[in-house]
Formats: sequence, C-alpha cells, structure tokens
Amino acid sequence: MAKRLTSSPPVLAGYSYVRPLGSGGFADVFLYEQDMPRRVAAVKVLLADAVNSEVLRTFNVEADISARLSAHPSIVTIYQASISADGRPYFAMEYCPDAMSTRYKKGPLPVAEVLDIGVRMAGALETVHRAGLLHRDIKPSNVLVNSFGAPVLADFGIAAAVVGDGESEQFAMSIPWSAPEVLQERVTGSIPSEVWGLAATLYTLLAGRSPFERPDRESNGREQLTQRIIRARYTAVPVEGIPPIVEDLLATALDRDPARRFPSMAAFAERLRWAQYELGIAPTAFEAASVEWAAAAPVDFSDAAPRGPVITTVAPTSRREVRAAAEPPSKPRAEKPRRRLSPLAAGLIGAVAGAAVIGVGMLFITGMM
Ligand SMILES: Nc1ncnc2c1ncn2[C@@H]1O[C@H](COP(=O)(O)OP(=O)(O)OP(=O)(O)O)[C@@H](O)[C@H]1O
Ligand SMILES: [Mg+2]
Repeated sequence: MAKRLTSSPPVLAGYSYVRPLGSGGFADVFLYEQDMPRRVAAVKVLLADAVNSEVLRTFNVEADISARLSAHPSIVTIYQASISADGRPYFAMEYCPDAMSTRYKKGPLPVAEVLDIGVRMAGALETVHRAGLLHRDIKPSNVLVNSFGAPVLADFGIAAAVVGDGESEQFAMSIPWSAPEVLQERVTGSIPSEVWGLAATLYTLLAGRSPFERPDRESNGREQLTQRIIRARYTAVPVEGIPPIVEDLLATALDRDPARRFPSMAAFAERLRWAQYELGIAPTAFEAASVEWAAAAPVDFSDAAPRGPVITTVAPTSRREVRAAAEPPSKPRAEKPRRRLSPLAAGLIGAVAGAAVIGVGMLFITGMM
C-alpha cells in the first residue's frame, strides 16, 4: 500500500499539539499535551475520508467499549472521545512510547517475554469476550507498550467498523494475523478467530515475521499469503531454541479448524501459564474481569445515536442577560401607589419623635450633674 501523507492535526480545546506519532490505514495518531490535568496524550484521529454516517454511528459504540474496558491493567487507558471542530472523531488515550510492531522488527523477542505478553493479552481479551464483544484486529501494532514497559491492548473495532464498510484496502493490512475462516468471509469474527489472532501475534514476536509469511518478500503478496493462511499448514518458529511446549500451543491455536483451537482466552492463558511453569518461569497472573462484572454493569451498546461533540460555550454576557434575551418580554407590572400619610398623622409622629429626643437629652444632663 502506498504511503499516504499524514493528515493535519486538529485543533482540540484543552490540548496543545506536540508532534505526529504514526499513521494507520484509517487514522493518524498525534501527541498532544493536555492543559488540565497537565499530561501528554496520544490522540487518534480518523481520516476525513474514512468518516461517513456509518463510521460516525459506530464511533460512539467504540468509544463506549474502549472506555468501559480501559480499567483493565492490560488495556490502553482512554481519557476522552469526541469529534473535532472539523468533524473528525478522535480518542485521547494514554501515550505509549512503543508498540510490539516496532519491537519485533528489531529482532525476535525472548520466549519468556512472549509468554508473559501472551498471558496478559489473553486476560485482556477474555475480559473483552466476557463483556460480549470481540476485538477483531489483534496484531502486533495493536499491542502497545505503556510508559511502565507493560504491554497493553489497543484499538477496539474502529478497524472493524471501517472494514464493514467495504474498505478492502484497509482490511489488507491485517491479513497476516487473520484466521482462515475470516479471510474466507465465513465469519466476521469469533472467539476461536481471536485465539488465532493472538497466536499469530505471539508467533510474529518470536519469529520476527508472521506465521505464514515467507522469508523472501516476493512470495508474500496479498493473494499468496491469503491462500497460505487458508491452507494453514503450521511451520515451526524459524528461531533456534523454541521449546516444543511453546510450538505445541501455537500449533493448537493456529489450527485450521476453529473447533480444535482453545475454546476461550482463559483456556489459552492456562496453557501459556503451564508452559511458563514447565520452563521454570514464574507464571504471569491471569487477570480477567469476573463474569459477575459483565452482568452487573451492562451498557447499552445498541444506543448508537450520534452524540457529541461535547461543546463548552462561554457566554459572552451574563446568564441573566442571556435568559432575558431568550424569554419573551414580560408584561410591565403596574406600579403600586405608595400610601401617603395624612398631614395629621405625620404631625403626630413628628411631635412624638421630638418629645422623645428632648426626654433622652434631659436624662443625660441630669446624669452628668
Ligand atoms: N496510545 C498510543 N501511544 C503512542 N503511539 C500510538 C498510540 N496508539 C497508536 N500509536 C501509534 O500510531 C501508529 C498508528 O496507529 P493505528 O492504530 O492508526 O495503526 P495500526 O495499528 O498500525 O493499523 P490499523 O490502521 O490497522 O489500526 C502506530 O505506529 C502506533 O504504534
Ligand atoms: Mg492500531
């Protein structure tokens, strides 16, 4: 795919633009500094061309999903989602200084690190599935590395939303990590296809290339790669010293038949943790939200009615003036006539007051003597 030019960073209230971070098939990511609280944020902005009514409709759902899941320790933290003044949807999220896609290109990762990443991602994805959702775009560039050096899962379904709109070129970017049944368009996604996606990602980190790519670049065209994935003939990780227990679990998760893969991310994590134990590595904690959590805090994701952008207006005049301008002019009140004292009553009051002043004065003088 030809490299496109990065779009211009939008003007966002409360944020100052710093620099570009990267570009994907349908979005650009920029570094901004948030004013309050003062912190850096990575802002992912959908390309203006990718924005249509369907994308806008699903954008709200994606924002809700990301925000709800982002409390998980292995899921990227979302700060805010809205639509920029020029109409582009964006997410502000935690800035992650690295991504697995850049890591593996520098060289294969050690087995111990890949098993640890695998358990953490399986915990994140089990949480996604318990919420009744699918990620649909598991691949190294969507496993970011946060500022604590921990892997975090990013990108919930914006890609799927765009792909669903027939943008086949964007779909091409994820072929190396897509399951055969997805490439054959038998399903758009399922738990077994996610198991495949995670296994293909872990394989890539160990091998330095995806499981069905060939070392010679010429034979990795879109069609050739697709056909090889559909045949799904597993080949061992082309790196020395990969333990058989790791090869076995990858081969199971990359089985052509979805029914023969691990039935859930929890089951996949168990096998990864067992491999850690067998290899003398401390097993990584498996962290997934409880099933009760999913039932206790249901969110109506079907409510995709367009929302946002959040608009904060500073009234040029006082609120009372604004209200007065908005209200129809009220009927002027008839002024109540002041009751006037009659000359006689006024005279009487004056006399009493005068007598009192004189009395007080007399008392004061007597007291002094
Ligand atoms: N929170 C973040 N912090 C820092 N960099 C990020 C963050 N999110 C994304 N990036 C970087 O921005 C670039 C583009 O990300 P983006 O998700 O748009 O594309 P992608 O994952 O490569 O492909 P796709 O378009 O299929 O999602 C990537 O290089 C990614 O590493
Ligand atoms: Mg991404």
